Order: sequence, then structure tokens, then C-alpha cells
Amino acid sequence: MSGCFITFEGGEGSGKSTQIAQLAAHLRAEGRSVVITREPGGSPGAEAIRHIILSGAAEELGPEWEAVLFAAARTDHVLQLIKPALERGDVVLCDRFHDSTRVYQFLDPALDKKLLQRLERAALCGLYPHLTIILDVPAEIGGDRARKRRGDRAADRFEKDDPKVQEERRRAFLKIASDEPDRCVVIDGDRSVAAVASEIATVVDDRLEAMRFEAIDRSLNGDRRP
Ligand code: TYD
Repeated sequence: MSGCFITFEGGEGSGKSTQIAQLAAHLRAEGRSVVITREPGGSPGAEAIRHIILSGAAEELGPEWEAVLFAAARTDHVLQLIKPALERGDVVLCDRFHDSTRVYQFLDPALDKKLLQRLERAALCGLYPHLTIILDVPAEIGGDRARKRRGDRAADRFEKDDPKVQEERRRAFLKIASDEPDRCVVIDGDRSVAAVASEIATVVDDRLEAMRFEAIDRSLNGDRRP
């Protein structure tokens, strides 16, 4: 696969969708083909499941079944949209992916962690992101931004959780970043849109350049490796 798979993660109101749009414009100006997508959702099957989850309709089935629904949506998204785009050589920018499950579902003490790990492996079909941008914003600030953006619309299944839970999620994202420093980059999202966008553009340009060199290296040395 010659494309690059970049995921954006962070709490409510961390600015993911704004920054994805900024990065897409930057990459397209460099002549790259970019696909923007999101989770839960991104493919027709997964968007149908998104509605079931976020409306709260699945909440009464319990956290295991919600986790199963996230995994089913992810498999469809990976197979129908993400893998084909990467095979074409596109850069795929995805608003939330498996780290959101690790943070939002793994934090639920009622859930069997082994079940979640098995679901993650099954859902990803071997496809882990090349790069994950974690937008870090204090939970209170993110919550204010999300409330303003929402206006009169009722909070969805996860937006209604209290600030203490949102702060725990923030810490869980930071823990993932410290556990996987090669894949994850934490960006301070509590700054101007332009300042955040410029830092993300630098990180992504560097990563794409590194991947290009790795590909050249592989093609030059490939046949000499055992
Ligand atoms: P969305 O409206 O896309 O919110 P946001 O702008 O915050 O990304 O709703 C997605 C919600 O679903 C969000 O609250 C996080 C939650 N979620 C999970 O709980 N687990 C997951 O695996 C994913 C992808 C999202």
C-alpha cells in the first residue's frame, strides 16, 4: 500500500474537524490526493451504525454491544473506504479511529479488556495508522467549544458525560501517546487555528518525507534482505 493513513484524536471540542480541513488544503496544495473521513461512520454501512450508536439507541444493550457496533462499523469503513484509498496512494485523514475506542470504551470498568483487544484486532484487519495526531485541550475548554458549536441541539450519547470523565479521557489519550511515541504526536490545541495548523503541517510533511525515503530504501535493498 503506497498511501498514508493519518488519524486525528482528542476530546470533545479539541478542533479535529477544523484541523483536518486545514491539513487537507495544505496537502492538496502540494499536489497530493486526500480523502477525509470520520468514525464512527465513513462508509454507508458504518454511517448507518453511527446513527444507532450516537442516538443512544444501543445504550440499553450495554457497553459490550456498543463496543461490538463500533468494531463492526470500523471493519466496514476499513474494507470499503480506507484500504482502497491507501492502495490508490491517497493520504487518508480520519477524524477518530481505534484510539477513541481505547479511550471511550476501555475506560468503562464494566468492559472486559480482552474482549476489546480481540475486537480491535478483528476490526482493524491489520491496518494501523501511520501517524496519529492527538489534539490536546483541557476538558473544560473543549467542553465550552463543543457546547457553543452544538447550539440548541441536544448532546449526543458521549457529549453528555461530565467534565471529570472528559478529563479522564484526555489523560487516556496522553497515555496512548506516551506508550506509542513513534505513531503518536501530541499537539497543543489550545492555540490559534493557524498556529496549530502550521505545527500539524510540519509534522505531516516530515512523516510523508520519511515514508518516501523508507520506500526508496526498501526498493533498493529489498532483494538483498533474507
Ligand atoms: P462526533 O459527533 O463525531 O464527535 P466529535 O466531534 O467529538 O468527534 O461523535 C463521535 C462520538 O463517538 C464521540 O463522542 C466519541 C465517540 N466514539 C467512541 O466512543 N468510540 C469510538 O471508537 C469512536 C470512533 C467514537
